Amino acid sequence: MADVEITIRPTGPYVVTGPIVLRDGQGNEIDVSDRGGTVKLCRCGGSTTKPFCDGTHSAIGFMAATSAVTKAE
Ligand code: FES
Repeated sequence: MADVEITIRPTGPYVVTGPIVLRDGQGNEIDVSDRGGTVKLCRCGGSTTKPFCDGTHSAIGFMAATSAVTKAE
């Protein structure tokens, strides 16, 4: 089993479990030490606390078109 696991929620965030380093677009580390080893990353675009999920996906009725694309076309 991998040290880091990423689970795609069908109507919500990417749930990342395990020891990670999260960086912003400038390469600055974002502290995730207070998140208990699990980070939920927004993929609906609606969160006001990006890159983290704040639950807005439920309010806006986010539904992913597909759970995962396994091969680029
Ligand atoms: S996935 Fe939860 S707020 Fe975007």
